Amino acid sequence: MKNEVPASCGDGRVTRKENSAGEGTEASAESCWKTAELPPALSAVGHLPLKLRHQILWVILIDKVASIVAYSRFENAEQFRVDGLCFLNSIIRRITTMRMLAQHTMIYLGLAVLPFLAGCTSSGPVVKRSYGTMPDGRIAKLYTLTNAHGLKATLTNYGAILVSLEVPDRAGKLADVTLGYDSLEGWLSSTSYFGATVGRYGNRIAKGKFVLDGKTFTLATNDGENHLHGGVKGFDKVFWDAKLVKRGGAAGVRFTRTSPDGEEGYPGKLKAAVTYLLTDNDELRVEFKATTDKPTIVNLVHHSYWNLTGDPNNTILDHELMLAADHLLPVDEGLIPTGELRPVKGTPFDFTQPAKIGARINAEDEQLKRGNGYDHCWVLRNQTGKVALAATLYDPSSGRAMDLLTDQPGIQFYSGNFLDGTVKAKGGVKYQFRTGLCLETQHYPDSPNKPDFPSVVLRPGEIYRHTMILRFSVKK
Ligand code: BGC
Repeated sequence: MKNEVPASCGDGRVTRKENSAGEGTEASAESCWKTAELPPALSAVGHLPLKLRHQILWVILIDKVASIVAYSRFENAEQFRVDGLCFLNSIIRRITTMRMLAQHTMIYLGLAVLPFLAGCTSSGPVVKRSYGTMPDGRIAKLYTLTNAHGLKATLTNYGAILVSLEVPDRAGKLADVTLGYDSLEGWLSSTSYFGATVGRYGNRIAKGKFVLDGKTFTLATNDGENHLHGGVKGFDKVFWDAKLVKRGGAAGVRFTRTSPDGEEGYPGKLKAAVTYLLTDNDELRVEFKATTDKPTIVNLVHHSYWNLTGDPNNTILDHELMLAADHLLPVDEGLIPTGELRPVKGTPFDFTQPAKIGARINAEDEQLKRGNGYDHCWVLRNQTGKVALAATLYDPSSGRAMDLLTDQPGIQFYSGNFLDGTVKAKGGVKYQFRTGLCLETQHYPDSPNKPDFPSVVLRPGEIYRHTMILRFSVKK
């Protein structure tokens, strides 16, 4: 466990401790980071291209000048007041006054939104706006981070979800490379964990039971007889507190929540945090941290589905994948690891060299049958607890490439085998079989019941940390 090193945001306040990779410092107070929080009706303005925003400003100004000219014309007309025209004139004046009122309102509104029209990014590369209302009346927020190259990550405090991530192809064209929904409602009823923060325990725990310090704990079961991704109401289905943060030149959002003792059956009050940072090196950093007041287990996981073509009508079968792993954790019928660490050499699970995902996915193989494709945890070569390259993903059609780095011992590669065209999502697209894939850095599934697997136990006074870095680039 690392020592916490306080940092300040320039005004003397201590705001942050060192991250898991021990890199840099960050200011987490909102006042340190200027944000553009807009009323819902105006929030759309911030997303207009800069040129268009300037055009809108010009229209408002020209309209104002025109109204002044018109007003003075009618004022002059008053000097020629003729009995018969009096009535007409008073109507015109009334209309004129109303018009002036409207004009002034427009001008003041224009001035109020001026900073945003002139460019939200100039007040900091984070835009925060309303995303919709929860059934209980709470307002979910949407945060958009933009980096120097135009990459754009959008997040929400509901489920600490990565809503979208826009990255360029080899022609510089931006497209969203994640699966998900257009509105809050989609995420509320989702069972796919698109882009979500999964917890307390990502992946499966057999029969929802484990023993810790001689005591048996029973968790909510939501995957047949097993516990999956934190249970019925996991971390993906709750509200998180959000704080805008900045580290170096990178803008980010830190989501925090306290999971009460006993939530979904887990012991201990767990204070959890997940920080997303979009750097100018075209990296999205996802950093998890947790502490507890009683011995417990924890395995927080980021669950984005990737489709680097940027068009979820395409499958991910032509993507080329490399996994820095020589062993696989074979599973039983319920996708629970058997405990064996099996070499991948000579099997369809060998991704030590980049290979097309579709090349061997339908091979005659018992493990592929059990997963209906790839749905397994690989044992990463790097077991040092330090961040290292774990996977590379490349889409030859668009040129988009993603390197994935982590300090975790395992990576779950799930080839979207449960996507079946029933989920209607972003842009009205129905996600078909294998149109998205997950690369989830994590501890091994069912670790609490496998004494030989690296421990997932967290005790009071200890700090759980997990770093995942997604680095984007293009190949010509
Ligand atoms: C699991 C799959 C599961 C999917 C959605 C993945 O992490 O490996 O088995 O279907 O999440 O829940």
